[in-house]
Amino acid sequence: MKKKKITIALDGYSSTGKSTMAKWLARRVGYAYVDTGAMYRAVTLFCMENGLIDGDKVDEEALRGRLGDIRITFCPNDEGRSETYLNGRNVETEIRGMEVSGKVSIIAAIGFVRADMVRQQQAMGRNKGIVMDGRDIGTVVFPDAEMKVFVTASAQVRAQRRYDELRAKGDTSTTLEQVLENVTERDRLDTTRQESPLRQAPDAVVLDNSQMTIDEQNEWLLKLFEERTTTKPKK
Ligand code: DC
Repeated sequence: MKKKKITIALDGYSSTGKSTMAKWLARRVGYAYVDTGAMYRAVTLFCMENGLIDGDKVDEEALRGRLGDIRITFCPNDEGRSETYLNGRNVETEIRGMEVSGKVSIIAAIGFVRADMVRQQQAMGRNKGIVMDGRDIGTVVFPDAEMKVFVTASAQVRAQRRYDELRAKGDTSTTLEQVLENVTERDRLDTTRQESPLRQAPDAVVLDNSQMTIDEQNEWLLKLFEERTTTKPKK
């Protein structure tokens, strides 16, 4: 039996652990990994640092003119984990903070920003052998992906996970209620926005991991991967 190289699209709600599982799978099967949420987060940080966003208002004309100045790259750290760089600066920690999290949905709703990100993502996946996670990977970026997973979990479970993560990183001021509010609000914005709202692709397989351990989840993913990459010999 022959193995073929495929494209893997992992979409779903925020804080479902998509990135963790996408990273694990990519490593396990020797594929490249791209965190597309990190790209929207990096653009958001750029806007914040360059006075292009004031409260909820974005200076879209100015941003359009400066899109070409935003260079997002990924580079592995000492432990081999991919980290996000904005114009050569490591912004991995900054883009995960509450400030960026609170604004990123606004930036991700802008059509020309999405078009530019999608173009870059399609270029990164041109040769297959890639795991990409986001919201529109199976629907817009790679509608022909051979493996599509739609990840979901209850808002409460997701908020708790995100809260534990922030605590582990030393954030002791954010409350669980604030995180839950942020998760719920992002769900609303992600699913109701006009530009590429979060939708399950008709051919995506749903993974609800509310009650799953990481090991169970990984096993589930690997099984699906095996199914999708094995070409059965013709009789
Ligand atoms: O996955 P994440 O929480 O890091 O994503 C951050 C934000 O970016 C989230 O509000 C949804 C948006 N996003 C998107 O619109 N399209 C993607 N492909 C990835 C993320």
